[in-house]
Amino acid sequence: MAENGRTGNVDDPAVRAAVHSAVEMVRNGDKVGIGSGRASTAFINALGQLVQQGLAAQCVAASEGSDNLARSLGIPLIELGEDVELDIIVDGADEVAPNLDLIKGWGGALVRERIVASVAKRRVVMVSPEKLVKTLGERGRIPVEIIPLARGCVSRQLKRLSLVPTLRLNKDGTPFVSDNHNLTLDCALTAPLRDPAAARELEARLLKIPGVVETGLFLDWVDTVLVGRPDGTVDVLERRQRGNA
Ligand code: A5P
Repeated sequence: MAENGRTGNVDDPAVRAAVHSAVEMVRNGDKVGIGSGRASTAFINALGQLVQQGLAAQCVAASEGSDNLARSLGIPLIELGEDVELDIIVDGADEVAPNLDLIKGWGGALVRERIVASVAKRRVVMVSPEKLVKTLGERGRIPVEIIPLARGCVSRQLKRLSLVPTLRLNKDGTPFVSDNHNLTLDCALTAPLRDPAAARELEARLLKIPGVVETGLFLDWVDTVLVGRPDGTVDVLERRQRGNA
C-alpha cells in the first residue's frame, strides 16, 4: 500500500547521518524490524547494500511498502510468528519530546510499527533535528487509525476532546487506506500538549473510544533516538528505562 507519497529516497544529510548510525547497530545474524517512511526507506536501502555484501540479517517489515522494498533488495524476510523475537527495530518518528515520548504515524503505518516493535529487544528511531519538540503536538497533528465504520462517531468523540480531526486523503483526493484497511484521522490540537502527563491522559482517552485502533502517541516506547545533524554528526539520546509499552 502506498504511504501517502512519503517513501522516496532521502537527500537530507541529517537523515543520512542518522541512517548511517542505525545500520552500524545491526550485527551479523540479527533479526531486524524495519519501519516505514522516508528515514526507514533510506535505512532499508543501506541494509540491502550490506546484505548484498554478505551481512546475515532477517527482517520483519512494518508496512507493505517496506516489505516490497526489502524483498526487491534481496533482504531475507520472515513472518512475525509466535516465537519470533527481534534484536532491534529501526524506524522513523514525526516528533520527539525531551523525555523521548514520540508522535509517529504521519506515514500511515503506526499500527504495524507498534506490533512489530512489541517483539523487539531494542527500539531505535532515526530523526533529523526539526523533529525535536518541547512538548508533543508542536508540529501539528496526532494520527489516529480508526475502523472505517466508526468514522462519524469517533470524529464526534475526538471533537469532545478538543481535537480537530481531518480524514487523511491521498494526493488524488481519495481516502488514505492503511495496510490494515482502516482510515486515519489526523487530529490537530488547539495547543501542544502541556506535559508528559497530558499526553498519557489523552492517549488513555483516545484508546477508550470504540473504533479507535491505535494512536500516534508512542509513549515510553523508544530506547534510542539517533538525531542526525546536517554536518553529518549524530546525537544519540538514550532512554534510561522503557515502560510497558
Ligand atoms: C510511519 O507510519 C511513521 O511512523 C514514520 O516512521 C514517521 O512518519 C516518520 O517518517 P519520515 O521518516 O518519513 O519522516
